[in-house]
Amino acid sequence: MAKPKLLSTHKLFEAPRKLLDEHFDVDYWERPERPPRAEVLARVADKEALICLLTEKINDELLDAAPKLRIVCNVAVGFDNIDVAACTRRKIVATNTPGVLDETTADFAWTLLMAVARRLVEGDQLTRSGAWAGWNLDQLCGADVWGKTLGLVGFGRIGRAVARRAAGFGMRILYNDAIPVAPEVAQQLNAEFVERDKLFAEADFVSVHVPLLPETRHLISAAQFAKMKKTAYLINTSRGPVVDEAALVAALQTGEIAGAALDVYENEPKVHAGLVGRKDVVLAPHIASASVETRTKMAMMAVENCVARFEGKKPPNALNPEVL
Ligand code: GLV
Repeated sequence: MAKPKLLSTHKLFEAPRKLLDEHFDVDYWERPERPPRAEVLARVADKEALICLLTEKINDELLDAAPKLRIVCNVAVGFDNIDVAACTRRKIVATNTPGVLDETTADFAWTLLMAVARRLVEGDQLTRSGAWAGWNLDQLCGADVWGKTLGLVGFGRIGRAVARRAAGFGMRILYNDAIPVAPEVAQQLNAEFVERDKLFAEADFVSVHVPLLPETRHLISAAQFAKMKKTAYLINTSRGPVVDEAALVAALQTGEIAGAALDVYENEPKVHAGLVGRKDVVLAPHIASASVETRTKMAMMAVENCVARFEGKKPPNALNPEVL
């Protein structure tokens, strides 16, 4: 029997690719750069399955161009790039990759936090430049991390993984989440629920771990920066539009906060011009989950979801299981 046709907008990694090839007739986008939209629309036309990255917009336009599609598997936990309702209307299953990237993303939130607090990027640049004149008492003094207050905006799997790491730094941990957290879970992590305003007012480091939803867009804007300490830092490894980038630039310019470390941006891959020249920001290119192990697991999870759909099983990470 002919294998179902599948488009993968990335060449994936060896193990997930092998599994995918066993089950599907796969059209891979093999080039290192992301495929142009027109290319995706053309290639998806005769496909029953799609494996895509968060850089692909899965909307009515794409779904209309793919009348045979039965499943869309995002190689990402965040799925704000997918119009799930539009998929559901067409009985197309959409899936994501929850769980496998929590620890790796939490590691990276800490990488950013430490880097901005201890001015690592400036230090690296100075060391490489040849201009370093040797040890000096007031050189590149940053802020202590240990013993400070960490404010977690979002206390789901990733927020909690960030909290676990804070224990080693003897930090006070505050969190806020729209979804109630079991008291014993918070207690175990020594984390205290506070209203958002209090979190912004008291945290030395605000780290963001919410999904991008209509209600979280610009959750952190001028009003929140105004509440933050002048010595506080913002860390964002969630989605760019959760932070109002223009308001962030203004807050940095006026000294309302001390700095920011970002992995995500409002209009990726564009970065606000007001951030680029600043020494008090650390800028990473959306790589929080980018370890070889984790990215391989994410791709494998997407493939397993796809395989399940064509074996008549429920894809384990279906976002709209009601279509099954
Ligand atoms: C990455 O940003 C993801 O959502 O997996």
